[in-house]
Amino acid sequence: MQALQHIAIIMDGNGRWAQMQGKARHIGHKKGAKNVRVITDWCAKHEIQFLTLYAFSTENWNRPKKEVDFLMRLLERYLRDEAPTYHENEIKFRAIGDIETFSQPLRDLIYTLESSTKSYTKLTQTLALNYGSRNEIARACYKILQANMSNGAQSPQEAVKALESTFANALDTADMPDVDLLIRTGGEQRLSNFLLWQASYAELAFTHTLWPDFNTNELARIIEEFHSRTRRFGGL
Ligand code: IPE
Ligand code: IPE
Ligand code: MG
Repeated sequence: MQALQHIAIIMDGNGRWAQMQGKARHIGHKKGAKNVRVITDWCAKHEIQFLTLYAFSTENWNRPKKEVDFLMRLLERYLRDEAPTYHENEIKFRAIGDIETFSQPLRDLIYTLESSTKSYTKLTQTLALNYGSRNEIARACYKILQANMSNGAQSPQEAVKALESTFANALDTADMPDVDLLIRTGGEQRLSNFLLWQASYAELAFTHTLWPDFNTNELARIIEEFHSRTRRFGGL
């Protein structure tokens, strides 16, 4: 069996789910937010260590203001309402992305939930919020420059090799293992600026199921299929 520590999911298809039922897009976002808890609880019960969910990208600010405002309010409500379930189920909450851009109340909710759940050791659920890989990589470079880290390596090749781990440690995901399995719902087959570095060797799974309809049976099927794959990491 393949080791499966870290699952990442691009939760796509909320808008289309609503539109297919003749409803407004925000109804799909509401239903999608409810599904986060279902999938997270299942992962905790099945001893997955890391679940990273793409909730809002750096590009999602390009949507109409009304939808962006709704998503911000939904995120606030989600963090407020769901906080007790993180404690009940001993789930560690993390956020990755450029959090500083959010409003003060939202930032407070994020940081409070992160710090109050940081001692839990079962599942780490990470929400990618205002997350874009390119933004994360640029911020990591900035951190390294600011810290003026020198790796003391001999040759340029060694310096570059050493920089790989320095760099990984400067990313938002510094304390997390690489992604083993990356799932995208909603039928698109692209990464949309998600975990470009961390998913370098991830196994990819795409499903047409829209995120609000994605359930634990389908997740279990995808995981079963993952276990039948051979991961070579460039070796034989
Ligand atoms: C994913 O669903 C949620 C976010 C990106 C916030 P979408 O809103 O992208 O749904 P579709 O892809 O338009 O159906
Ligand atoms: C990716 O979905 C981002 C999230 C799921 C948060 P999008 O719907 O924004 O991606 P594109 O625009 O189809 O690439
Ligand atoms: Mg989409």
